[in-house]
Amino acid sequence: MSAQIPQKSKAGLVGLAFGLTTALLEPAGAQAAAPDGETVYRQSCAACHESGENRAPSFAALRRLSTEAILESLTSGTMAYVGETLPTGHADAVASFLGRGTGTVAVRARRTCPEEPWPDPFAGPRWLGWGGDLGNTRHQSADFAGLDADSVSGLGLKWAFGLPDADRARAQPAVAGGRVFLGARNGRLYALDAKSGCAIWEFKARAEVRTAVLVSPTQAAGRNAVYFGDIKANLYAVDAATGRQLWRTKVDDHEAATLTGSPVLFEGRLYVATSSIEEFTGASPILVELPEGQRLLIAGQKSGMVHAVDPDQEGAIAWQRRAGKGGMLGGIQFGPAADFRNAYVAVSDYRGAGSSEGGGITAFCLSDGQIVWHAPGIPCPAGREGCSSAQSAAVTAIPGVVFSGSLDGFLRAYSTEDGSVLWSYDTVREYSHTVNGVPATGGSLNGPGPAVVEGMVYVNSGYGQFGSIPGNAFLAFVVIGE
Ligand code: HEC
Repeated sequence: MSAQIPQKSKAGLVGLAFGLTTALLEPAGAQAAAPDGETVYRQSCAACHESGENRAPSFAALRRLSTEAILESLTSGTMAYVGETLPTGHADAVASFLGRGTGTVAVRARRTCPEEPWPDPFAGPRWLGWGGDLGNTRHQSADFAGLDADSVSGLGLKWAFGLPDADRARAQPAVAGGRVFLGARNGRLYALDAKSGCAIWEFKARAEVRTAVLVSPTQAAGRNAVYFGDIKANLYAVDAATGRQLWRTKVDDHEAATLTGSPVLFEGRLYVATSSIEEFTGASPILVELPEGQRLLIAGQKSGMVHAVDPDQEGAIAWQRRAGKGGMLGGIQFGPAADFRNAYVAVSDYRGAGSSEGGGITAFCLSDGQIVWHAPGIPCPAGREGCSSAQSAAVTAIPGVVFSGSLDGFLRAYSTEDGSVLWSYDTVREYSHTVNGVPATGGSLNGPGPAVVEGMVYVNSGYGQFGSIPGNAFLAFVVIGE
């Protein structure tokens, strides 16, 4: 466009100045070759990104990212293998065509909380790591939960946080000492005030933070660390009070290596499971102890089967039951919860966006595997695009209540007694007044499950993969009126 200005300009001097700049910046012919972003998208991206069958975010999900995030992905991120095949200029063109979202750089979470000393995070209620405890039960005790079957129906939205530059929200949050620690797609770890959502600090990792977060004391007196990994297999320890990095290490040199399993600290050693972005892992197993003292390892499988094995009898099978039909995307996808009586197993059985198949949750008696109750999947609201009733997200239990999110965007609280729905909330909506000023929308609930701490329920909403509903909301609920 600017190349034509000199000829058309009536002011000779201005025209000359324009002409010079243009000549320096654009070699002859460059303009004709400038690719059209939409055409590049159709030719080089759409085949994968519109199939709805793989992990590739949908077109709508890509449109939520900023130009810089898309370009970063094509040059040094997960899409670099595609980016390097593109002719010069195509990556820029497609990135500016797609990039609509709120850029991360533009909206850093500054400290918005008042300065105050951080109490001992291990003195009060907390949820740490993926499963909340070493047995990975995803069960929160009554005194830590501060919520029960009678009060749960009063839950309402207290605050929402908008994840910048994100089509998904998929890291299990940790809560300790009145702070929420949350990983995000833009490679940030946020420390937020648990009650109000104001920002305390933000740490910039090298890539998306998808693991759960573990908070643990260090050897230095009074200093606590936050441990987490990114999708490029970097493991970090960050000072939980200040957000300053204590150390970082690359766990695995394989180029497809990623950290999605959550760090676990046991007797002074930090355990991390690495996986590959080329493969899929199953649900996380749970270690429970029955009232008579027998221990059982409960594992859900993508095949839809639940297995209970005795770790003290060389893995002898105690019982096996079918919960779902199974498939590539579950069966049992991200993990059940267990209290002292039952295992609560949600079923994905995802058959693609728009399919009303799938979903449901079953309570199995821990001692013999008998079905205590079954609550079937609930059909999607009419007309909701990318919707599915599959319940793929991890389950969270507190005494009397079990929480399960579904791909249609609903978070539901079921009674542990009979599976009746005590409360539900449709997270698919716009959150224009987020605590950090980043506009957010809710979407599919997938991946981690809620954390329930001190009367509050925290949950991620949005999952723009496999044709599901994208979103970038982190939501905090409390019993309204309290
Ligand atoms: C061969 C299939 C394929 C092609 C072609 C492809 N993508 Fe992807 N893309 C994927 C998959 C699969 C993922 C998800 C990767 C993951 O989550 O591990 C993805 C993820 C992405 C992401 C998200 C990265 C992130 O960090 O959130 C962006 C942005 C993206 N692709 C852009 C593009 C653009 C732009 C093009 C065209 C120039 C393109 N892709 C072409 C398969 C593809």
